[in-house]
Amino acid sequence: MLHDEVIPILDFGSQYAQLIARRVREAGVYSELVRPDIPLEELKKMSPKGLILSGGPSSVYEPNAPKSDPRIFELGVPVLGICYGMQLASQLLGGQVKPAKAREYGRAKLHVTQNDPFLKGLPADMSVWMSHGDQVHDLPKDFLPLATTPTCPYAAAKHRTIPFYGVQFHPEVTHTPRGEQIFHNFLYEICKCAGSWTMGNFVEQAAERVRKQVGKAKVICGLSGGVDSSVVVALLHKAIGNQLVCIFVDNGLLRKNERELVESTFRHHFKIELHVSDASKQFLTELKGVTDPQQKRKIIGKEFIEAFKREAETIADAKFLAQGTLYPDVIESGHGYAGTAANIKLHHNVGGLPEQLGFELVEPLRELFKDEVRQLGEVLGLPENIVWRHPFPGPGLAVRVMGEVTEERLRVLRDADEIVLEELIAANLYRKTAQVFAVLLPIGTVGVMGDARSYDSVIAIRAVESKDFMTADWARIPFDLLATMSNRIINEVRGVNRVVYDISSKPPATIEWE
Ligand code: XMP
Repeated sequence: MLHDEVIPILDFGSQYAQLIARRVREAGVYSELVRPDIPLEELKKMSPKGLILSGGPSSVYEPNAPKSDPRIFELGVPVLGICYGMQLASQLLGGQVKPAKAREYGRAKLHVTQNDPFLKGLPADMSVWMSHGDQVHDLPKDFLPLATTPTCPYAAAKHRTIPFYGVQFHPEVTHTPRGEQIFHNFLYEICKCAGSWTMGNFVEQAAERVRKQVGKAKVICGLSGGVDSSVVVALLHKAIGNQLVCIFVDNGLLRKNERELVESTFRHHFKIELHVSDASKQFLTELKGVTDPQQKRKIIGKEFIEAFKREAETIADAKFLAQGTLYPDVIESGHGYAGTAANIKLHHNVGGLPEQLGFELVEPLRELFKDEVRQLGEVLGLPENIVWRHPFPGPGLAVRVMGEVTEERLRVLRDADEIVLEELIAANLYRKTAQVFAVLLPIGTVGVMGDARSYDSVIAIRAVESKDFMTADWARIPFDLLATMSNRIINEVRGVNRVVYDISSKPPATIEWE
């Protein structure tokens, strides 16, 4: 068994299903999403400590509404139903679900009416987040109501003899401030979990799995300097030592000192066999005269694969390729489980490798969320400046130099970008922002330098706050900090006479300019 304790979440298509898994893991128990109709036999094989039925957009009385295996209660383990999950389970247990008089959406006041371990440690009144059109209307006598809201008589309830708990609200969202306590109670008071999901334990289990998978063969890993690939490398290094060989492709589109940081961290500190393929000339030659962003991405993607392949061919006995695929990628690409919520991610992901390279994949982070990957990086002893790195796009500075990419324009951007980062770090704002960088605009502007007119370039500063990079807001960084960045860029970077700050949020703008 992979994990000694697991809480499967039957995913009925809720936009919050991943959040439920995160909350459970944050509470110290491994959790993963499974398809809603997973058969009892498969659930049994997982030896779950409990089950969670997620919310979902359907109504339980619709003909095609997703259903669980009706035998789930035969498992004998506690079941928590959230919203749709509560309605479905109540229906299975003889309750009646009806459309609520009004769709309930938003904050509601929850009043606890029953003393129960499930709601232990919670105040009598608290704020919860509701989002539903139906609600459990009538519960048979076998159910005990635990809490109400002004419009929902069974906002929380439990079955008297079967270990079933239901909540009509969403404890997993941050708008339910005490939701964490509810998960904690379910896991520890009701399911009696021990709480063994820690990154320290994960390292041992994951290392063992990798050793089993690869045997004595060599494993190649493409290192980009980003968090995910760095953590994969640190983990594999611990698992298989010098069977690991890393390839770093210098595409000439990196930030200042990027290559040096990767070399010093991995070659010198971790003593990992690192091949640096310097393909910068080739990339820049291919990019000559190209201004269309998608065209740039295509060229860079193709060159990357070629450079990587060339280097990989020099490594004898390599059978495996390690990649930093994360759990959200697994779910979003529809591979997590068949059939539901399989919205394929149309990502402009450049810097990835095609499956036809002929290697078998090693993906030790497939089960992890991004924040868990950072924790893992810390446990593995990666330095803070790698673990907490802002994301950097595969096509690198090519999509931050608007218009044609040339050596000279890359130099201007690199120098300006370095100043932006230096000042951000000095102001102690690196960890508080999600992504911050400079962009070189494709226009000239007039300025005065001494007594002379200048006609030079404009740098835009982009700083955003974001949790998932799907949406983002421009960061309200202090004016004084912007002033320092601007002064330094104009004084120190040859070729720049104007600096502007980007105050657009995503959507409708994107984080990158191209
Ligand atoms: P946008 O600009 O779409 O960016 O708001 C969202 C996140 O994705 C990164 N990004 C990329 N990453 N290849 C990548 O690997 C790309 O082509 C690419 N374009 C954008 C961007 O930096 C941000 O973190």
